[in-house]
Amino acid sequence: MSLKFNYSTSADTTHKSFQSDFLKTSLNSFKDIINAEANGFFHLTDRSELISQTQEIYSVFKDRKHFVQIGIGGSALGPQMLVSALGNNTNKTFTILDNPDSDFIFDELSKINIKDAVFYVVSKSGGTAETVACYSIVRNLLKENGVKEEQFKDYFVFCTDLKNGQLRAHVDENSFHSLEVPSNVGGRFSVLTHVGLFPALFMGVNIEQFFSGANELKSLLLSDDAEKNPLLQTAAHISYLFNEKNINETVMMPYSSKLKDFSFWFVQLWAESLGKYQESSKSNVGLTPIPGYGATDQHSQMQLFMEGPYNKLMFLLNIKNRKYNYNLDSNLMMESGKKLAPHSMNELLEAEFQGTLKALNENKRDFIQIEIDTLNETTLAQLILFFESLTALMGHYLKIDPFNQPGVEKGKIYAYEYLNSLR
Ligand code: PA5
Repeated sequence: MSLKFNYSTSADTTHKSFQSDFLKTSLNSFKDIINAEANGFFHLTDRSELISQTQEIYSVFKDRKHFVQIGIGGSALGPQMLVSALGNNTNKTFTILDNPDSDFIFDELSKINIKDAVFYVVSKSGGTAETVACYSIVRNLLKENGVKEEQFKDYFVFCTDLKNGQLRAHVDENSFHSLEVPSNVGGRFSVLTHVGLFPALFMGVNIEQFFSGANELKSLLLSDDAEKNPLLQTAAHISYLFNEKNINETVMMPYSSKLKDFSFWFVQLWAESLGKYQESSKSNVGLTPIPGYGATDQHSQMQLFMEGPYNKLMFLLNIKNRKYNYNLDSNLMMESGKKLAPHSMNELLEAEFQGTLKALNENKRDFIQIEIDTLNETTLAQLILFFESLTALMGHYLKIDPFNQPGVEKGKIYAYEYLNSLR
């Protein structure tokens, strides 16, 4: 396995007995969840046609200079995370229009030659206002630049439900190029579908390795050797802390700028899946996620994590080996320069990480450390599958449906009501 886990030492006898009860039943519950027809996320990477279909569309647009993704929520955060972490095609640019903020959109579109771009419009439901609004803007801009509506199929690729929704009907009517959001995979679980694969491939990521990497982890996540199964161990740890110690906030803190967007992807996954009304107890539950990244957040949120309320569990991710490194000796005569001189940049970041772990331990703060050897397609896919699986299992533990989002619907209805009231 490419992921190594280490848990903070809050384990005591209560923890052990809680854990053994939890472990007895959880594996079967997890298997039931992922084998239910409605929940397709775990089996996506068995579908090699998702790769070949992506490659086919890519071959049509591969010479474009710019990739512009139009989508929001799960149709934006996963793709952004993949490209930030692994994108390596320096001849291409990647932009996401995920917010109907005119000033932001103006800036982003001003940076590119829109006639040398492919626009990837992603919406599973097909009617999301923010996405349709951004699509409308780009249509108008193309027209202003002399592109006729009948030429739009040379600029747009769509990704939506195969059969349902307004966008699918629009695609079919206009014979646009299109890819698929599988009907049994929700937006925030869709990064390893066409939603994330097309932008990743365009930006130079090896998408075949994503699939093989994720598949390598599966037997471990399904292992009935509970001591060795990191999914069960982690879920047991979180559930114990939530249940017995009232720890209901979850910090995601990779020590990597390239994984900063991984934190934002995690935030959506965790918040939208687990923040719910629990019917059985008629109460509200959730594990509020907090995004961060090291070492930067050591100079920001870490004070709160070290000395604030004892209500947080931190996921600390570190990368053992990085692609590049720098020597810190530049003949500086100032004290801190002399201290750093014998070391490298990577040693400094590792020291920051280890120093934080030691201090968290001393302050009796709860954390789960996950170490990867290098950041690549295999390890990123494994992190994705691990956290998607953990989210699904925690949903079961919290007795809520992690795959719906009823709480956001009201706001959408009222936004349309407000729009109507303006006319
Ligand atoms: O995770 C989810 O289901 C949501 O966050 C959606 O991704 C988001 O609301 C966008 O929906 P759609 O893809 O239907 O436009």
